[in-house]
Amino acid sequence: MEKKIPVVAIRELSETDKILSALKAHGILCAEITFRTACAEEALRLACRNYPEMDVGAGAVINKVQCRRALAAGAKFIVSPGFSEDVARLCQKKRIPYYPGCATPTEIMQALKWGITTVKFFPASVYGGLKALKALSAPFPQVKFIPTGGVNRENMEEYLAFEKTAAIGGSFLVEEALQCE
Ligand code: 3PG
Repeated sequence: MEKKIPVVAIRELSETDKILSALKAHGILCAEITFRTACAEEALRLACRNYPEMDVGAGAVINKVQCRRALAAGAKFIVSPGFSEDVARLCQKKRIPYYPGCATPTEIMQALKWGITTVKFFPASVYGGLKALKALSAPFPQVKFIPTGGVNRENMEEYLAFEKTAAIGGSFLVEEALQCE
């Protein structure tokens, strides 16, 4: 897994190439395209087709209808802000990695029940940041986290230095890549 996962919100389909190529030029070979804009599904399809070398997945997937659409569009992984059993079931069936949002021990236990050992810690900054992440890790040594939400250039390295951080996620990575264009 890439260590940095840009959270990409595509508002116009025509932005897709610009954003994906900027990420690639920036050395980021992955993108989480969030299902919260009208053209997200089409943008995901376009990105998966034009950037097969990149790990392109869908974010903000909150139900099985969206999950089905994302998988049909070619998503290589699925991310949710919370935990959805329906999405977990579908991803398990299709053998696609699913990273549910988990911010409490109960949610992590739910993920573990589905065999999921890498979860999104969201919204990281609101739920206590690195301190909370370390505390949550103690009873779950088998779990790795993707802190997302309020992660930025300043705190990114602290998160990444923690051994239980699988990757960090954030929209700031998209902004940075576009600034360098
Ligand atoms: C997400 O959907 O994962 C978050 O909105 C990303 O949060 P950020 O904009 O603080 O990186």
